[in-house]
Amino acid sequence: MPPTLTPLFQHAPSPLVELESPTLQRAGVRLLIKRDELLSIGPGRALCGNKWRKLQYNLQAAREEGQNTLLTFGGAYSNHVAAVAAAGAEFGFQTIGIIRGERPEGLNPTLRFAESCRMGLQFISRKAFKEKEDPEFLSRLRKQFGSFYLLPEGGTNALAIYGCRHIVEEVERQAEALPGYWCCSLGTGGTFAGIADALNGRAKALGFSALKSDFLEREVGRLLTAPLLSPRRGEGTANGAEGSWEINTDFHFGGYAKFTPYLIDFINGFRQQHGIALDPIYTGKLFYGLFQLIEEGYFPRGSTILAVHTGGLQGIEGFNERFGELVEVK
Ligand SMILES: Cc1ncc(COP(=O)(O)O)c(C=O)c1O
Repeated sequence: MPPTLTPLFQHAPSPLVELESPTLQRAGVRLLIKRDELLSIGPGRALCGNKWRKLQYNLQAAREEGQNTLLTFGGAYSNHVAAVAAAGAEFGFQTIGIIRGERPEGLNPTLRFAESCRMGLQFISRKAFKEKEDPEFLSRLRKQFGSFYLLPEGGTNALAIYGCRHIVEEVERQAEALPGYWCCSLGTGGTFAGIADALNGRAKALGFSALKSDFLEREVGRLLTAPLLSPRRGEGTANGAEGSWEINTDFHFGGYAKFTPYLIDFINGFRQQHGIALDPIYTGKLFYGLFQLIEEGYFPRGSTILAVHTGGLQGIEGFNERFGELVEVK
């Protein structure tokens, strides 16, 4: 039985806006943005975007199981770690973040925020971090911390993918017609899988990989067979319809968290022109790639494109601290 959300874990729909730009006019396409970054639950601005969609059902499941503690994993700048910390503060869970690498002398803004939400941080070596799914490793963590609800790195599990289906369901209620193309950024692929599943071949899902990877295609195919999703998935061409989803790997800028001056200029220009902030790790690369494809004529004239702003803006402060105030925030 698919779960239903209790009102505690529901929220008002995020805005759906149409972008105006000469590039879009020239190409004869419309671009709608699902502004999930504007969802802001709890302290700070970490619990928003796809992080909230992925956590909603998990938080409810943790509550139903009577778990008081959420434990998760991530890198030092992880949007997911920050979101779990905020969720703990907002919904009354204790939280533990197992962080990859040595504890630095001074914490970066993401981890400072996590600590301000009372998340307990434990730093482990990169080698140990690789074992994070190993049952023995997890049982050692249970001995150390007691019982907890486990959220995987990046937050992708069956309930998370199921939660991301709501992005499509909300847009269907907000837009006058179903957009023909649905674009979002990929890390683990969970958000994209939820969107592709809900579309079920009715429109094309176009993912933009934020990392250099040749495994995401396979991974999304696997995720589409997750419990709670339609049992038809996993027939090779996920969600049944040939060509109904595709992952573009041309705009990762050299890999995860890598960037060039072109990307930074695009992000700053986009903010100046449209008043919409993008992060340099995920959404900046998505919109850069999307505009490039629009200019190249990838989308037929008359198309309506939907892009999901998945958030990630909490990471800008840490990025700027590390690389020197590149992304404009005012
Ligand atoms: C802001 C943002 N957008 C997109 C993604 C990609 O989502 P997923 O891991 O579900 O592919 C992430 C996290 O990984 C993220 O933090």
